[in-house]
Amino acid sequence: MCGIVGYIGSENAAPVLHRALTRLEYRGYDSAGIATVFNGRVFVKKDSGRIEEIHKRLNLDDMPGGVGIAHTRWATHGGPSQANAHPHLDCSNSIAVVHNGVIENFLQLRKELTELNHVFKSKTDTEVIVHLVEEYHVRQGKPLLEAFLTALERIQGSYAVALISSNAAREILVARNDAPLAIGVGDGFNFISSDVTAFIEKTKRAVFLQNGEAAVVRADGYDIIKLATRGAVARKPVTLLWDIEMAEKHGYPHFTLKEIHEQPEALRNALRLQNIYVDLLTELLDRGRDIFLLGAGTSYHACLAGSYLFSKIARVATYPVVASEFVENYGASVNADTVILAVSQSGETADVLNALEHARLRAATILGITNTVGSTLTRISRAYVLQNSGPEIGVAATKTYTAQVLVLTQLALRLAKLRGKLAQFEMDEFKETLVNIPGIVEVVISRVEKPMREVAEKLVDKDVLLFLGRGVSSSTAAEARLKVMELSYIPCISYSAGESKHGPISIIDKGFPVFFIVPPDDDRKQNIGNIMEMKARGAMIIAVADENDDEVRELSDIFIGMPAVHPLLSPIPYVIPFQFLAYYLAILRGNDPDKPRNLAKSVTVL
Ligand code: F6R
Repeated sequence: MCGIVGYIGSENAAPVLHRALTRLEYRGYDSAGIATVFNGRVFVKKDSGRIEEIHKRLNLDDMPGGVGIAHTRWATHGGPSQANAHPHLDCSNSIAVVHNGVIENFLQLRKELTELNHVFKSKTDTEVIVHLVEEYHVRQGKPLLEAFLTALERIQGSYAVALISSNAAREILVARNDAPLAIGVGDGFNFISSDVTAFIEKTKRAVFLQNGEAAVVRADGYDIIKLATRGAVARKPVTLLWDIEMAEKHGYPHFTLKEIHEQPEALRNALRLQNIYVDLLTELLDRGRDIFLLGAGTSYHACLAGSYLFSKIARVATYPVVASEFVENYGASVNADTVILAVSQSGETADVLNALEHARLRAATILGITNTVGSTLTRISRAYVLQNSGPEIGVAATKTYTAQVLVLTQLALRLAKLRGKLAQFEMDEFKETLVNIPGIVEVVISRVEKPMREVAEKLVDKDVLLFLGRGVSSSTAAEARLKVMELSYIPCISYSAGESKHGPISIIDKGFPVFFIVPPDDDRKQNIGNIMEMKARGAMIIAVADENDDEVRELSDIFIGMPAVHPLLSPIPYVIPFQFLAYYLAILRGNDPDKPRNLAKSVTVL
């Protein structure tokens, strides 16, 4: 996730953009830059680092021109550096582009443009956009707008993109596909931005672009164009009722709630992995004699889910290990035939890095899944995949967890293909399910928030909660436990449901709340047996199960119905009710859900 903003009007654009950028910094903060147009020239200042550091070095306010675009970055392709910071320029330095999103076919486009003698200065996917527009406009002589629209036709992936040119000082061109973009409509000036926080101090009137739309934005108006037909779209501004703080959180009271709601977008981005890295990772995984999946906290639960997925999809056994336990307990078994796949949102967790350092010294192959380009994990991994979730500000991991599980699923699928372990029909069925996951999660979010808030109201004074699931759902139970416990401060227990009769059942008495995670999989029948055992002892049964599972519905005191999903992918939608439960319990108990006590977002001590 990055932030883009543009301004056109009578004020000097650079200071306006600088202020707007600081409002967008929560969308990414590893580098930033501004481009303006003045007197037939494009001016650019950009660097790596946070905006205020860059301003101290370069004085971002001191740039001429009443039109400009700016960017604050959360790296996806190419680490944080001056060259990779946006805006990006074409070879003639007459066009500047900023972009939020992921261009999936950038490698092919880069190759094609390089053969046409375009010189690339960065490692970003974005740079192909500006060279494509240059190709059509500067070299082939198409008008700027036509060149822009033609370039967009060549691009696959997600984008909110804004472009200025020294040949067109009175307009900003923008377009969107699967990344947010709004026009802030003022009197004699206009903004464009990834979100309204950037301009809400200056105007409360906004037009939201839809997917597949472009716009020409001038100081005195805007024209929206449908990309598929190039026809005009009429859309009037809406008036925003938010203040700046509400706008930063998109109207949600907390970042955690915003991030729970952002999961469909984060999952779409997690499906846009760069194939070459996924293939490389898969090949390296394939060579491992022992494969460890390593993580801490929530990322460990993603590893736990991953071990079931690798086993069931690719028929490959892996060891999920808590990072802090690795060196002392498994370290001696590590050698050159060992592969460690480390999962870490921050890429900086000390327990993870410590384990990897040990493994590195013993010549193991280190692979990574992370959300943070330029993190230590990316530097020490032989190969890594970025989950593309954007910054997560709430301390509790929500959108980054479901994205990690989706990345692991894709790796398992790719490994299955490499080893010839799946029949074509199974492969096709899976792929279809993967693509549907963001939509399924959208349905779940819209459906379960209210009932889970009501569950939270019922349970707010309980002393302890129990979470049970079997197979891959035991990882969902573990993650539900962690999420609810860290935000509500209510002690929680999770077990594999099959283990409940081997001990935990002794704590059950009348009204004891027991959550069952029961997707319609091979374990369902046995889960029902466990539900009956608990019910017979007076437990309050709260089941998260398929909406058509009438048997489970009958047995439950509270039933949370889920839409159909492939059972192996259930960890993604089935964890969402528990994220809401955790959030609402925190609110009801007076806790700050964004900053639970005693915790830090990134634990950099052993
Ligand atoms: C819980 C949570 C933590 C992290 C853990 C690992 O909600 O966020 O348990 O998952 O500290 O962090 P990363 O993934 O950055 O290594």
